[in-house]
Amino acid sequence: GLRDLLRNLSLNYKGDDEEPIYVELESQFILSPDILYAILKKFTECMSNGLAEENYKDMPMIPSFVERLPKGNETGYFLAIDLGGTNARICLVDLKGTREQPVLIQKKAVVPDDVKAGKSEDLFNWLADLTFEFVNENEITNEEKIKLGFTFSFPVVQSGLSKGKLTQWAKGFSCEGVVGKDVVEPLQKALHNKGLEIEVVALVNDTVGTLVSHSYVDEMTFMGVILGILILNVSKGTGTNAAYVEECSRIKKKDLKGKQMVINTEWGAFDSERKYLPYTKYDNHLNKESLYPNQQNFEKMISGMYLGEITRHVLVDLHARGLLFPASNINCLLKRESFLTSQMSRIERDNSKNLDDVKIVLEKNIGISETDLNDRKLVKHVCKCVGTRAAQLSAMAIGAVLKHSGRWDCTVAIDGSLFEHYPNFKLRIQQTLRQLFGVVSDDVKLSLANDGSGIGAALIAASC
Ligand code: GLC
Repeated sequence: GLRDLLRNLSLNYKGDDEEPIYVELESQFILSPDILYAILKKFTECMSNGLAEENYKDMPMIPSFVERLPKGNETGYFLAIDLGGTNARICLVDLKGTREQPVLIQKKAVVPDDVKAGKSEDLFNWLADLTFEFVNENEITNEEKIKLGFTFSFPVVQSGLSKGKLTQWAKGFSCEGVVGKDVVEPLQKALHNKGLEIEVVALVNDTVGTLVSHSYVDEMTFMGVILGILILNVSKGTGTNAAYVEECSRIKKKDLKGKQMVINTEWGAFDSERKYLPYTKYDNHLNKESLYPNQQNFEKMISGMYLGEITRHVLVDLHARGLLFPASNINCLLKRESFLTSQMSRIERDNSKNLDDVKIVLEKNIGISETDLNDRKLVKHVCKCVGTRAAQLSAMAIGAVLKHSGRWDCTVAIDGSLFEHYPNFKLRIQQTLRQLFGVVSDDVKLSLANDGSGIGAALIAASC
């Protein structure tokens, strides 16, 4: 039953707590194979619908206009601007025409809150300023205009390789005057106004960039996935999404001449009507309070931007029911985002007998006045449940794409700090893939793809 499943998925699960609250949490969060199969069925249907219909809300399946993966012989200097969510990066990539990992120089900056919520012009001028500084600091000069790939990791409907309109904001952005408009044109204008000899030749989603850049070093790469954010302001890839190589004959909504095209699934948008996923009351609470209620519903169960917040809602509820921190004041936990996914990750990593690090996180970092071992065990269990569900759903989605494409021998390139740092996240994905699809890890390789979005955009620019 569920217990065995959890024992498998959580690896170091001790199985000694049969208390009703432990069981209650598991039954709310850990998804049985039957439930996962039911979700998989809907997910797969939505993928097909998204390939057939324009603007299909449940799974946009956006053609990227990237028609081939790099050959490996690309040479020259290329730029990328990567606007991922929390950070923006300007990258210079030097392609040497070999399949080795290209050299990347970059400049990173945290996107200020007033830029995220400001006017369209402010956003693009801010990016152009950053590019200007980068170009000067590195004394980048070129005889011709330097080509630039713009990684813009938001839902965009593309009408060409360098044309696309933002459909809606995500990840805490709300700039005025961008939704519904092309995003390349204002960037090009802002760069031009700064006197920069740069031509924006490609608009790239981070998943597409990850796929392209990893395929440069590993030709078996078929999918690029982002499982994002653990540490606010440090990591990139705030949401979750995937791109893969599709046969043009299956992209029914477009009349495409070529053979293949990379599709940006925008799977974070899955279940726009909240009908198919098993939402708990905690998920519903988070959804209501979020900047974009009823949007990016799948992402809200997976991305590190939300996992800490779901966990926080559970902890507050357990306290109200007298099951957790009975003797403590938990006012510090009542504030939104007062519990972070990076803290979940630390809590799950603590295997000490007295959960000493959990104590530090809860008492010192968060400010709960007093915790005992039972509290700490229960908090760890909540993290495990919320974190495991995220991994199970990620695996279901990866498997859905592989099944749709019949590709059971390939590399899935995954970027994002949730995948990179959250304890056991990768193993839980692998185990769920095995459980649902019988996949073994030798056939489907889950590879960490670091920094793919910048290099990928530069590689795409190189092919223009
Ligand atoms: C969000 C964006 C998507 C991006 C993902 C990962 O889901 O809509 O475009 O790929 O985050 O950064």
